[in-house]
Amino acid sequence: MARIKNLFKNIGRGWLLYFFIRLIGWQGEKRRVNLCSGANVLSDYWNVDLEPKADLILDLEKFLLPFRDDSMDAVVCISAINYFTYDRAQKIMKDVYRVLKPVGVARFGVQDLKILAEKYLSRDEYFFFEKLPDGRDRFPGATVADKFNQWFFGFASYGGKTSKYVYDFESLALLFKNAGFRTVEQKKYRESVLADIEKIDNRPEQMFFLEATK
Ligand SMILES: C[S@@+](CC[C@H](N)C(=O)[O-])C[C@H]1O[C@@H](n2cnc3c(N)ncnc32)[C@H](O)[C@@H]1O
Repeated sequence: MARIKNLFKNIGRGWLLYFFIRLIGWQGEKRRVNLCSGANVLSDYWNVDLEPKADLILDLEKFLLPFRDDSMDAVVCISAINYFTYDRAQKIMKDVYRVLKPVGVARFGVQDLKILAEKYLSRDEYFFFEKLPDGRDRFPGATVADKFNQWFFGFASYGGKTSKYVYDFESLALLFKNAGFRTVEQKKYRESVLADIEKIDNRPEQMFFLEATK
C-alpha cells in the first residue's frame, strides 16, 4: 500500500513539473536532458522517463519534451530509442533538435543491429547465454533465436513498453540528419565531448554510440 501511495506521489510530482515547465516556461538551472533515464538517474540532468524516479514522468510515445526551443546544452539517450516506432523516433529526434541550443550535443547509444546480427550468425553462446550474478539468464529465451528476438520485440520495461526497432549507425544517423543536425558521427564507447561520459555510456558489447551537433 505504501509503495502504491509513493508511486502516485512521484507520478504527481512528475506531472506537476511537466505542466509547470510547459505552461509557465520555468525550467530551472539544468541545461541537460537524460531521455529515458531508467535506473541511470544523472545529477545536473533533467531525467525523463516513465519510471517514478525520473524528474519528469513522461510517456514519450504520447508527449514530446516540455522544454523551450534552443534551451539545452546536451540531450543523452542510452539504450532506449529502440522502444519507439521508427516514425515516433523521428518525431523525438526533431524535438531533441528543437530543444538543443545552437551547437548543443545529442549523444545516443543503442543496441546495434550489426553487432547483434554478427553474434547471431556466429552463434555467440558466450554472449547470448551470459548468466547474471544470481545465476539467472541475462537475456530471456530458450534458444539463440529466441534470445535474438528479444532485441526486436522483447525487453519489456516500465509500463510494459517493449522494443520496436533495431538500428545500426547508418539507420539512426539518417533520423538525425532528417531532423536537421549539422554533424552526425559514430563514436567509440565513452569517446565524447561530454565531460561526464563515464556516467552515461553502458553496454558496449551490444551498442553503438552516436554524437550529433545542432
Ligand atoms: C533499457 S532502459 C535504459 C535506461 C538508461 N537510459 C540506461 O542507460 O540504462 C529503457 C528505458 O526507456 C524507458 N522508456 C521506454 N518507453 C518509454 C516511453 N514511451 N516514454 C518514456 N520512457 C520510456 C523505460 O522506462 C526504461 O527506463
